[in-house]
Amino acid sequence: MIKIWITGANGQIGTAINEVLDPLEAEIFNTDKEELDITDTEEVLNFGEMNRPDVIINCAGIVDLNLCEKEPELAYRVNALGARNLSLVARKVGSKMVQLSTDDVFDGLSKTPYSEFDDTNPKTVYGRSKRAGENYVKEFTHKHFVVRSNWVYGRGNNFVNKVLEAAKNQTPLALASDQFGSPTSAKDLARLILHLIKTNEYGTYHATCQGMCSRYEFAQEILKAAGKEVEMKAVPTKESDLSYARPAYAVLDNFILRIIDLYQMPEWKESLQEYMNEREEG
Ligand SMILES: NC(=O)c1ccc[n+]([C@@H]2O[C@H](COP(=O)([O-])OP(=O)(O)OC[C@H]3O[C@@H](n4cnc5c(N)ncnc54)[C@H](OP(=O)(O)O)[C@@H]3O)[C@@H](O)[C@H]2O)c1
Repeated sequence: MIKIWITGANGQIGTAINEVLDPLEAEIFNTDKEELDITDTEEVLNFGEMNRPDVIINCAGIVDLNLCEKEPELAYRVNALGARNLSLVARKVGSKMVQLSTDDVFDGLSKTPYSEFDDTNPKTVYGRSKRAGENYVKEFTHKHFVVRSNWVYGRGNNFVNKVLEAAKNQTPLALASDQFGSPTSAKDLARLILHLIKTNEYGTYHATCQGMCSRYEFAQEILKAAGKEVEMKAVPTKESDLSYARPAYAVLDNFILRIIDLYQMPEWKESLQEYMNEREEG
């Protein structure tokens, strides 16, 4: 049975991977900050050497952009050095390594989707620390998959749930019509990751649901899928709620997945509907 170590296991993406994984097919080691802080080099090495995972999936990270700006040392410790520690283990015990990364490694100034062959140019501490994490993983282990995604929503604190909360409380929303991305369900990302790790197609991948929209359009679709309404207006980013100092154009092209015909991500509106259906059932 394949042994998989998931760090940041209680987060959105770690939780989604656990939901999608078949426990009969894999032995799973879930750790989060409480059990194992990925910045503790010795603990990470001990855990890895003791359990000898076939695959390490690093879902741990500091993802709050404002926190990263305020505490850059924390951001670099977790997003960069944490990834380094895990890749040192991966190299030592021969594991495959999946590093979750982000469109924030790009500057967001493009007018066309970014492919894996475009140069990175992060503008935020979050983006710079994530790029540093990618670089450590690429430097220290050969058997790696760097998976960049964006606008991910799953269980937890995310844009979808914030819009639904606003609808519940009838709090009017002003949302950015000049920020573009591809909403991606954590479960769909998890399915892709579990597909990738069965292969030896190592490298960097862009992995978002198909299609794109503005924050405002995303919220419209969330409300439509949930059958809810709230007063909402489209505004520039600087006047908007629930927006962050993010790259304006955060659209990724799943170029490599497409040209090697490895996997096709679903269309974002279909994914959102699946998420809503499960949310109502759960
Ligand atoms: N969400 C997105 O839109 C998105 C898009 C692209 C890429 N990503 C990347 O995907 C990864 C996971 O994202 P997510 O949305 O699942 O984030 P998340 O929900 O915030 O999960 C991250 C998890 O990592 C934990 N963690 C923080 N510091 C740690 C440490 N030192 N050691 C061990 N665990 C630690 C967090 O614990 P606490 O909550 O207690 O801090 C949290 O449980 C991140 O690396 C992120 O950069 C996310």
